[in-house]
Amino acid sequence: DSLLAKLETGLPNGQVPAGIFGNPHVYQHELRQVFGRCWVFLAHESEVAANGDYVVRKIGEDNFIVSRDERGALHVLFDACRHRGVQVCRADSGNTSHFRCPYHGWTYSTDGSLVGAPLWRNAFGGMDKAKNGLVPAAQVSTYLGLIFATLDPSAPPLQEYLGGMSWYLDLLFGLDADGLEVLGAPQRFVVDANWKSGADNFSGDDYHLGTLHRSVWEIGAFPVPFRENMMGYHIQAAPGHSLSFSMAPDENEPGPKFFGFPEGLAASFDTSRISEHQLSIARRSRVFVGNVFPNFSILALPMTEDGSHFPPTGIITIRTWQPKGPGQIEIWNWFLGYKRMTPEQKDRAYRAGLGTFSVGGAFEMDDTEPWITVGRTGRSVAAELLDFQLNYEMGMPGIGISTRVADWPGPGVAYWTRYEEGVQRNLYRYYTAMMRARAGEWPDVPLE
Ligand code: FES
Ligand code: FE
Repeated sequence: DSLLAKLETGLPNGQVPAGIFGNPHVYQHELRQVFGRCWVFLAHESEVAANGDYVVRKIGEDNFIVSRDERGALHVLFDACRHRGVQVCRADSGNTSHFRCPYHGWTYSTDGSLVGAPLWRNAFGGMDKAKNGLVPAAQVSTYLGLIFATLDPSAPPLQEYLGGMSWYLDLLFGLDADGLEVLGAPQRFVVDANWKSGADNFSGDDYHLGTLHRSVWEIGAFPVPFRENMMGYHIQAAPGHSLSFSMAPDENEPGPKFFGFPEGLAASFDTSRISEHQLSIARRSRVFVGNVFPNFSILALPMTEDGSHFPPTGIITIRTWQPKGPGQIEIWNWFLGYKRMTPEQKDRAYRAGLGTFSVGGAFEMDDTEPWITVGRTGRSVAAELLDFQLNYEMGMPGIGISTRVADWPGPGVAYWTRYEEGVQRNLYRYYTAMMRARAGEWPDVPLE
């Protein structure tokens, strides 16, 4: 509680108490107040494309089955048997007509309804099956193929929760009317870090690239020089949701555009779904990196597999920072491609992604190491005794060169140049409000 109070008073001055990255009480409160209430990303629709397809995913620390039933409807079901609470689904993904509990054999259909149990008449004859199905999440919704769910019936509809962020998701996920699909199964790997370090980094921590990822330039894997890459926009799209674009000043500028997708491919996109303004941003963009509160991050950028294959290809990775305790996350990482890409283009994008943003990738290995030490600082006795505060002042009035853009065509608040940490302050402002919010209450948080 005192950490939250410190965050509340310190944040307007760019100060964040390190303890929120390690304190176990804060973490327990997050599971209820943040993961128990917000819309959480679970899966891409292409992972459960056919009737009977399912994947097992998490909301907070809890397992949910994301399934497509026999009639094609999506369900998000708490993976706990109604008889004794046993975990029903024992595979990560698959296609099935039913889920059968391993303990006594209660059997549920893919829409969650209880269809039977062994020796039904003797054991349960007369019991109401309809009242004993798997329990669904409070709300399930999709946006451009992205499946979200929330455990809070009072949560605003997904579209409203995303707010201005949907405009920016459009210009990546709606850039081609044909849509996207996952390239392979998601990678998963455990890192001893706090989930907020990932969300914070992907909200727009571009500043670290020149130092932490220096080697990536040295091997030539990323085609935009560091200083040039810092030119672009930081956007607080909606309360909690932030993103960052590296962008050429105009479309005729040399260098990669359309997030690095090959020119021929970019020209073939059916962009009828998005507006002229959105299209212009997509055309000029080299990097899109953003975070949907709380833990769903998105990154699109030009990459080469190993530095020797020019020109680079665009890659899209989406990921979740899955909490596993105050000091641990499981990173889930999916690569996406536009459906209209050729198998060869998809393969290149996948391999470029693996070489950079994956468990063995050049960027990923760089990033996770410092986050581990953020968590260590956060749970340290020294940080508590010394009242240790982290500095998030970049881009505040009088600090650095960034300025607010007056005539920004999109929703939210935009700053020019990526030397700016308002995107992260936006994350923590909303975080604080959610941690404080009473049941049924949805905070109204201003952008900065
Ligand atoms: Fe599932 Fe008994 S616990 S059938
Ligand atoms: Fe990084």
